[in-house]
Amino acid sequence: MKIITLDGPAGAGKSSTAKLLASKLGWCHMDTGAMYRAVALAALQRNVALDNEKALAELAASLDIQFLSGAVFLNGEDISVEIRIDRVTAATRPVADAPSVREEMTAMQRKLSRKFNLVTEGRDQGTVVFPCAELKVYLDASPSARAARRYHERIEHGDKSHSIEEILHSQIERDQGDKDRPIGAMEAAKDAIIIHTDGFSLENVVNQVLELARGRGLTSDYIPK
Ligand code: DC
Repeated sequence: MKIITLDGPAGAGKSSTAKLLASKLGWCHMDTGAMYRAVALAALQRNVALDNEKALAELAASLDIQFLSGAVFLNGEDISVEIRIDRVTAATRPVADAPSVREEMTAMQRKLSRKFNLVTEGRDQGTVVFPCAELKVYLDASPSARAARRYHERIEHGDKSHSIEEILHSQIERDQGDKDRPIGAMEAAKDAIIIHTDGFSLENVVNQVLELARGRGLTSDYIPK
């Protein structure tokens, strides 16, 4: 099937772009960050030690993770809200660092790509998981714009627990962790198109990606006019 990868750091607008792009194309949206978060949530629920790589990988392999109507389901249960809480975000780091968990998630992601045309977002989608994707985009933005975006998203969800400065601080730490990961590190694929989203509206960014898609031959067969 056809694949567009959207990689890049948190807060650059990946999720909103991926969602709108997928809906304009009539393709599925795969949020691979949500998949790593789902494994972390399951580990917390089942008391699997976060430093036990073998147990985490076995757990990851046993999970049924699905995306339906914009929600994420773990073994049939909607976990879209739960996976965003700070405790799960913190637990996601060791889970995503574990190479054998990444192997399981890569296999799961590739399996989904056999059934559906995908707009897939993450850190390693263009580099590791789908090196032959039809189009690879890396979305970036300045640290301050990303922190402001994440701050406003939290406020929209009624969460005023962190200031922009605190969000910026934790963002710097997370970025470093994502870049330092020995396997699946956050980086643009050599053949990715980099889009800086500062100052652009969501519609504008989505249109830029759609233009690129048309340029790759993902024309009206795949893109409704
Ligand atoms: O995109 P996000 O913030 O929901 O991702 C959660 C964590 O998972 C983040 O630390 C990066 C990591 N991740 C990853 O290592 N590989 C991916 N393909 C997607 C996310």
